[in-house]
Amino acid sequence: MVEFSLPPKSRPTKGKVHAAPEGAKNVKRFDVYRYDPDSDANPRIDSYDVDMDSCGPMVLDALLKIKDETDQTLTLRRSCREGICGSCSMNIDGGNTLACLKPIADVKGSVKVYPLPHLPVVKDLVPDLTHIYAQYTAIEPWMKTETQPPASGERLQSPEEREKLDGLWECILCFCCSTSCPSYWWNGDRYLGPAILLQAARWINDSRDEATGERLDALDDPFRLYRCHTIMNCTQTCPKGLNPAKAIADIKMKMVERAG
Ligand code: SF4
Ligand code: SF4
Ligand code: FES
Repeated sequence: MVEFSLPPKSRPTKGKVHAAPEGAKNVKRFDVYRYDPDSDANPRIDSYDVDMDSCGPMVLDALLKIKDETDQTLTLRRSCREGICGSCSMNIDGGNTLACLKPIADVKGSVKVYPLPHLPVVKDLVPDLTHIYAQYTAIEPWMKTETQPPASGERLQSPEEREKLDGLWECILCFCCSTSCPSYWWNGDRYLGPAILLQAARWINDSRDEATGERLDALDDPFRLYRCHTIMNCTQTCPKGLNPAKAIADIKMKMVERAG
């Protein structure tokens, strides 16, 4: 079992306020979680006043502007800046989402930026995903076959078979869903959570995969699958508009079908 070492639960203290450059007329405040487990006893919130007249429209634009121009110690993950890589997921204005897809204009008042909740923090806005990726590895997210491929070399699918993967293949593993799931908060050591279960469904539903029974056996466990209580936070928060709660319900249905 993986040991969870979460940041201290005490309220973050008030940190430094970084004023906007002189003459800025259109200023927005960003209150950003700061915590370095190697040196800080407690998290703190640093405030940055950003000149919106020289800033892009998304929260990620503001965070990168802060890092480039004001405070190089601010630590965050990002890569594609267009909702594809899943690395800029964080908690903004009380909800888990992708910073590159979250318009600053959607937030009234100051923009509160925290890391994804209930995960250990590497630094500032960067959560430690070691455990969740170990869970991903555990579902063996690759095509498993026993038969030889056809002479043509490709294992083909009909359009109908391929359609069964829609709503699953689009997942970018941002983990906004798992970290919004109360069951995952409290049982994340053993419950796989919505992101990983949606990935499991992606392989269970793949007509070319020949390990469906084995995959269902591996999930047939009171914790790994059945800690989902259909609270639906996962589906509400997914920035790609996917429905992990439905993917989980479909796996449970497959369990019933094969038992009966
Ligand atoms: S539906 Fe299941 S996975 Fe989604 S938030 Fe609720 S308990 Fe978690
Ligand atoms: S289902 Fe949605 S929220 Fe969950 S990891 Fe995939 S893309 Fe992110
Ligand atoms: S930077 Fe890739 S999803 Fe936001």
